[in-house]
Amino acid sequence: MANTVLVGAQWGDEGKGKIIDVLAPEVDVVVRYQGGNNAGHTVKVGDEKYVLHLLPSGMLHEGKQCVIGNGVVVDPVALAGEINELRERGIEIGDRLLVSDRAHVVFPYHGALDACREAASRDDKKIGTTKRGIGPTYGDKMSRVGLRMGDLLDPTFPQLLTERMAEVNRVLEAMGAEPLDAAKLISGTCEATRVIAPFIGDSIPFLGQVVRDGKSILFEGAQGTMLDIDFGSYPFVTSSNATAGGACTGTGVPPNKIDRVLGVIKTYTTRVGEGPFPTELTDEIGALLAKEGNEFGATTGRPRRCGWFDAVLARYSAMINGFDVWAMTKLDVLDKLETIKICVAYECDGKRYDSVPANIRILQRCTPVYEEMPGWQTPTCDVAQFEDLPQAAKDYVNYLVELTGVKLGILSVGAQRKSTLRVGM
Ligand code: GDP
Ligand code: IMO
Ligand code: MG
Repeated sequence: MANTVLVGAQWGDEGKGKIIDVLAPEVDVVVRYQGGNNAGHTVKVGDEKYVLHLLPSGMLHEGKQCVIGNGVVVDPVALAGEINELRERGIEIGDRLLVSDRAHVVFPYHGALDACREAASRDDKKIGTTKRGIGPTYGDKMSRVGLRMGDLLDPTFPQLLTERMAEVNRVLEAMGAEPLDAAKLISGTCEATRVIAPFIGDSIPFLGQVVRDGKSILFEGAQGTMLDIDFGSYPFVTSSNATAGGACTGTGVPPNKIDRVLGVIKTYTTRVGEGPFPTELTDEIGALLAKEGNEFGATTGRPRRCGWFDAVLARYSAMINGFDVWAMTKLDVLDKLETIKICVAYECDGKRYDSVPANIRILQRCTPVYEEMPGWQTPTCDVAQFEDLPQAAKDYVNYLVELTGVKLGILSVGAQRKSTLRVGM
């Protein structure tokens, strides 16, 4: 398969884990390029369910090489826990995981700062973060005071962390939180390092060689375009570039080695956490989508907000990422609906918007302009080919393709591997 960047097109949880799992057998290497264990990528294999937070979803395929790129932020304790959990479930890790020594480390104080900031914010300013310390870690990276995975292996690590904690504890105390004990933190980190040390290395020459050898890479995006730090619904976003450009800066693979960008998009919309969501449904239809789609956060268990498909957002997302092809997911969740709405534009203060406005105060007040289509009221999860779908379902999907200008490659009609219709790829 061509070198492909897979990106969430909405607010995350589009079903990226499932699509990665389907495509992994067709590539040589799967690489995460940004985010941290705020991600929760679910893969269902028969009766088994795996939720991967830091490890690339390709780990579930025997022999598949996986990389955690330099753009990811890594909580060593969480990573060690995930590695141990997979091993306990009989998945061999061997030498097929490489964690970039340039990836920044998430320490417990990042989580504490994340929680403090959320607690100190006024209700309308709360982001609803996963409290995994993601924002403070990327903040440290940009402020040039972070520690990187390679530092965990350095003999000076205890000193580096102790020095850093002097400032961190002053900040925590100023925010009314308890300071953290450096010795305890060092010993906890060193314990995790014993598990992960064999996997830490220089991913840059490794991936350079993969490219030179003509092997194929699948870049596993986390979060989604509307959570991107630059292009999302700022400030209600995460702290990394979830969009396609992040694949280059987050791995060191140059742009001219990327062949294709695949957008993963739900056939409706969800969001977990705070922030604007123009097509949100707070009525019984929203509740039905949440129930049928089992819309609970894979990381925090929080209920996800649900709403109609937003073509304004999808077009904006396609423009930024340059999507060549869609993987559309969760069509089966709409099976019971009599009619289905699609947002084709926004309106605010009498003005029509065909693209997502930057100003959050405008986006918050945007109301959707809807078109309506008939539902199909027939189960779709056992359909094996696109042609065999009910006509109304085909019409709906084809209309989403027309509205977004991106062709269909994969249509997912259930969480299982078998419920995947390959259309144009
Ligand atoms: P990710 O973060 O993008 O990987 O998505 P999550 O794993 O957080 O959330 C997607 C959820 O939808 C998971 O529970 C998947 O098992 C499930 N899922 C994925 N594709 C489909 C589908 O086509 N239909 C249904 N019903 N569930 C799906
Ligand atoms: P995957 O990869 C959905 C959301 C949080 C919050 C905001 C900022 O599973 O799609 P953070 O902890 O990153 O500082 O929180 O981003 N968020 C996600 N929402 N899916 C995710 O990942 C998310 N990762 C972060 O809910 O609104
Ligand atoms: Mg998720």
